[in-house]
Amino acid sequence: MADDKVDSLLKEGRVYRPSQETVASTYIQDYETAYRESIQNPEAFWGQAAKELDWFTPWNKVLEWNYPWAKWFVGGTCNMAYNCLDRHVKTWRRHKVAVIWVGEKGEERIFTYAELYRQVCRCANALKSLGLRKGDRVTIYLPKIPEQMVAMLACARLGLIHSVVYSGFSAPALESRIQDAESRLVITADVGYDRGKAIHLKPVVDQAVAHCRTVEHVVVVRREQPGVTLSAPKEIDWEDWLRDQPVACEAEPLDSETPLYILYTSGTTGKPKGVVHVHGGYMVGTYLTTKYVFNLKEDDLYFCVADPGWVTGHSYIVYGPLLNGATILTAEGKPDYPNPGRWWDIIAKYGVTVFYTTPTAIRLLMRYGEDWPKKYDLTSLRVLGSVGEPINPEAWEWFHRVTGGKKPIMDTWWQTETGMILVTPLPSVPLKPGSATRPFLGVEADVVDREGKSLPANAGGFAVVKKPWPAMMRTIYKDPDRYQVYWNTIPNCYTAGDVCRKDKDGYFWFMGRADDVIKVAGNRIGTAEVESALVSHPAVAEAAVIGKPHPTVGESIKAFVILKQGHQESPELIQSLKNHVLTELGKIGVPAEIDIVPSLPKTRSGKIMRRVLKAKELGQDAGDISTLED
Ligand code: WTA
Repeated sequence: MADDKVDSLLKEGRVYRPSQETVASTYIQDYETAYRESIQNPEAFWGQAAKELDWFTPWNKVLEWNYPWAKWFVGGTCNMAYNCLDRHVKTWRRHKVAVIWVGEKGEERIFTYAELYRQVCRCANALKSLGLRKGDRVTIYLPKIPEQMVAMLACARLGLIHSVVYSGFSAPALESRIQDAESRLVITADVGYDRGKAIHLKPVVDQAVAHCRTVEHVVVVRREQPGVTLSAPKEIDWEDWLRDQPVACEAEPLDSETPLYILYTSGTTGKPKGVVHVHGGYMVGTYLTTKYVFNLKEDDLYFCVADPGWVTGHSYIVYGPLLNGATILTAEGKPDYPNPGRWWDIIAKYGVTVFYTTPTAIRLLMRYGEDWPKKYDLTSLRVLGSVGEPINPEAWEWFHRVTGGKKPIMDTWWQTETGMILVTPLPSVPLKPGSATRPFLGVEADVVDREGKSLPANAGGFAVVKKPWPAMMRTIYKDPDRYQVYWNTIPNCYTAGDVCRKDKDGYFWFMGRADDVIKVAGNRIGTAEVESALVSHPAVAEAAVIGKPHPTVGESIKAFVILKQGHQESPELIQSLKNHVLTELGKIGVPAEIDIVPSLPKTRSGKIMRRVLKAKELGQDAGDISTLED
């Protein structure tokens, strides 16, 4: 093919239309009509969806909107864990497999809905035995093992608020999250496994809780033999904790707006934000999106590769799929360990039908070549998913091709704050590789300028949502002002912080963040967090951090550092800076590159202009630099 032809093909964008058969099998066969109807009266639409779930007492108003504060399903009482478990255990689904967990060495643990229910009830009773009461916070710092899910659901059952912290975070990062939440309990494990290596978590917790006065107990899941020693009465073994607990525990009827969890995520300052989600609306949003986006049916086997330490794990491993009574597969470990056939092998072995993964993982697997997926029978797959960062058309095409060339890919756009998928295809919608397509039903998303005016086709602008949606965050924990910023940056809209354009068909093309948040392998990191870790190193006077495009992980971290007097640049010093970030923040924050520089570009008011650094790094024009000091 001539080069100009390739070029025009790219500009035009390929369109993949679903087969008649696929369309016929979907819940929503005519997206356009369904969407139009849903936004004519979003409250009626969401109210209808909520009726598919169980409520102890019905709501008397779907939405109370007091800009920018929302209350959904006002006056209703419900319980997330009840809807994830009891609702199914009451039916034949009690015998259905709820969770298949696969360990790094191929170990397997399988829970039916009845078994998961019993474990969760035991855990809830164990939580009660420690005197924990509705509204108390529990920090869960666990690797990807079923206990993570059990603990989350047990908290939900009682109206305790869980705060799951990704197990890759270091002690200071964990400590600040425990401190902010003022957790009374921390649940952890001795180790997690990563590429065959045991990652010791208990020492991290020891260090983190040493200064946390609110923490009364630490419960430890012991996986290794001999088990780590625990110091009673503060430290408790998970098995001992659960052993004698009764297997029944009533789910608390909770007001719809009762907080379900806090999840810390990165923003533009060094301090992470505690995003708060609630039982009622979040339940309805995650339930319906899981059902329609993946067209989830009774006999599906749903495999999501996320870690429950992040929001995708909360909404689309634990809550959304369980609300739908699905069978969930979750696997500890990396996609290329013990070899790059790991996930394809799991898909073939178990007959996975829905596979939800990330662009970074796809690009990583791409590097190992097509022979790996070719070795496995992937015909069970029905729907694919991608999340966390923009997927480039090349990776999209590869994923599509190696999985048989016919399975629709749902490129789902959303955020920790949004709680649920907001812009996404449905399996019945024509796909354009690289586009997250259109807003989900009931969601009014748009691309606007700074004043909130809708932009014409193909003009780049800001991704916003114009009306509240049920799973939206309700506040930032202990920081309502920071919450309001989302709704006050651009008038009358929720500003997501993403740059985006809409094409002539109304398809959304997300282009990355507009702010100082970066996405490394889909993990969300604030440049300010890395900078504050760096400046706490004794040799560092100032630091600036940027995200730099990277072929596999999307963005990589590059730091520019000014040294304090008396310190010299050396390979040892660079290593020491990296180690320091590792201890302060954790692996995900460690810069791939560090440049020692004599000065940094600043505005006259002293703010570092990361934009200028980035443009220079990429050899681009820095744009308007009139505010540059020097
Ligand atoms: C980015 C992850 C393009 C986006 C669920 C957003 C995406 C941030 C996509 C939120 C996608 C997520 N296409 N970009 N399909 N999905 N993003 O809070 O920049 O970890 O603002 O939530 O990820 O990251 P978070």
